[in-house]
Amino acid sequence: MRATILIIELIIGLSAVNCFDYFITRNVDKIMEGPKEFRFISFNVPNMAVVEDPGWHSIDPWEQEDVLKTINQIGGRVIRIFTFSIKKYNDKPETKRHVYGINKYDEDLFRNFDKMLELCNKFGVRVIVPFINRFNGDFGGIDDFKAFRNKIHFYQDAQVRQDFKDMITHILNRTNVYTGVKYMDDKAILAWETGNEMNPPFHDWTKEIAAHIKSIDKNHLVMDGNYGIDSSSLSDPNIDIVSNHYYPGSSKTFAERCKADRKLSQGKKAFFAGEFGLAPIKMFFDLLDEVISDGTIGALIWSLRPHNKDGGFYEHREGTTNFHSYHWPGFYENNGYDEINVVNLVRDRAYKIQGKPIPPIPIPEAPYILHTESVHSINWRGSVGARVYDIERTTNPDGEWILIKNNITDIKQIEKEGPLLNDTSVQPGTSYYYRAKAKNIAGASDWSNVIGPIKA
Ligand SMILES: *[C@@H]1O[C@H](CO)[C@@H](O)[C@H](O)[C@H]1NC(C)=O
Ligand SMILES: *[C@@H]1O[C@H](CO)[C@@H](O)[C@H](O)[C@H]1NC(C)=O
Ligand SMILES: *[C@@H]1O[C@H](CO)[C@@H](O)[C@H](O)[C@H]1NC(C)=O
Repeated sequence: MRATILIIELIIGLSAVNCFDYFITRNVDKIMEGPKEFRFISFNVPNMAVVEDPGWHSIDPWEQEDVLKTINQIGGRVIRIFTFSIKKYNDKPETKRHVYGINKYDEDLFRNFDKMLELCNKFGVRVIVPFINRFNGDFGGIDDFKAFRNKIHFYQDAQVRQDFKDMITHILNRTNVYTGVKYMDDKAILAWETGNEMNPPFHDWTKEIAAHIKSIDKNHLVMDGNYGIDSSSLSDPNIDIVSNHYYPGSSKTFAERCKADRKLSQGKKAFFAGEFGLAPIKMFFDLLDEVISDGTIGALIWSLRPHNKDGGFYEHREGTTNFHSYHWPGFYENNGYDEINVVNLVRDRAYKIQGKPIPPIPIPEAPYILHTESVHSINWRGSVGARVYDIERTTNPDGEWILIKNNITDIKQIEKEGPLLNDTSVQPGTSYYYRAKAKNIAGASDWSNVIGPIKA
């Protein structure tokens, strides 16, 4: 009896760390999870493997978990991350990059990537991984890569092509230090994408890279990273998925563009909206209705940023537009770009495309108040799905607690905007303790840990 219980516990334990029974496969223009069609509406999470701002730095596993719990609450099932980072000629010597040169890789950043995959398996979220960026922004890109050999062309140069294929081999063949599973054998990966927004298309480059990926990795789908559908990819047996990105600047709506892309790829390849955004919510309603009704496999809005482990959220401003990154569950402070309505729309349609009822929002978990030396600088690790927090204070943790702040938000970049709470209502010389609870429309969490004594 005891042995049986132990075995059952062991099985439950193991299944808890690996949610996936199947690799995602393709059936003509559909993708499948075993016998079931697989469709998704969710977020791009560009900083899931490394954080670009504020300041380029490693991501903490707690932050990766925050993303995955958020995606689970949203019903998203899939994220698309951003590319591997490439060393730039003007990087500071200490700047961390996934790729420093020909066959020179950063073990620490790849361990963050390993951790992401471990957690994706644990939380049941699939990830789409583009290898390189066409542009040379924060992540580095194709110009930085060809500069390793002082070459002029990224696509046409045979040596640079070989270097790029060697980089791909290295990545596919890496063994995850946390799980012992090679990337090419990891079910959490939905697809490898040849790159981000790689246009104009170089058909023979795409064909060669897709064939190279398939020659090593027999498990995963390959996605053409061209910006828009390159019709020559529709007949390439090594390409499974094509995509397009929808941003303002066209006379057509996102929905019209999606309809045309679906028509072009229908009966040939799986197609989805790899990115869309920086537009009024009306465009999103119409696009997602089109996606759900026309058989497009999915859509990923640009973009979600998680809580920061030091308090508050990461936040990303999109160029000179009024749009910023989205944050769950949406905040009144970000009404300027309709954040609450947009994230709720994504959640609603994420369940709809799966044909599932929308579950109630859960009560948030208790937050975690971070150690501090100053009553003027109080921060906590936020709870997924919480909109506001209540903060209590006492001079005696076994005595009476007093509510000092009600309904305060953590939608703040603490590096720029200061601490979540600056307690100014203190008596100098007195020592205080603090605790917090998280709230949303479903209710309130338990009280957090207690910090203190902190002398004012
Ligand atoms: C993959 O890595 C193993 C070591 O883990 C190595 O023996 C093998 O040669 C590599 N394969 C390729 C194609 O590089
Ligand atoms: C806290 O508030 C006081 C009074 O407004 C201000 O002088 C102080 O700089 C603030 N401290 C921090 C850390 O923001
Ligand atoms: C705090 O927010 C809740 C809803 O989340 C609301 O019912 C309550 O009135 C608010 N309290 C204050 C003091 O604003």
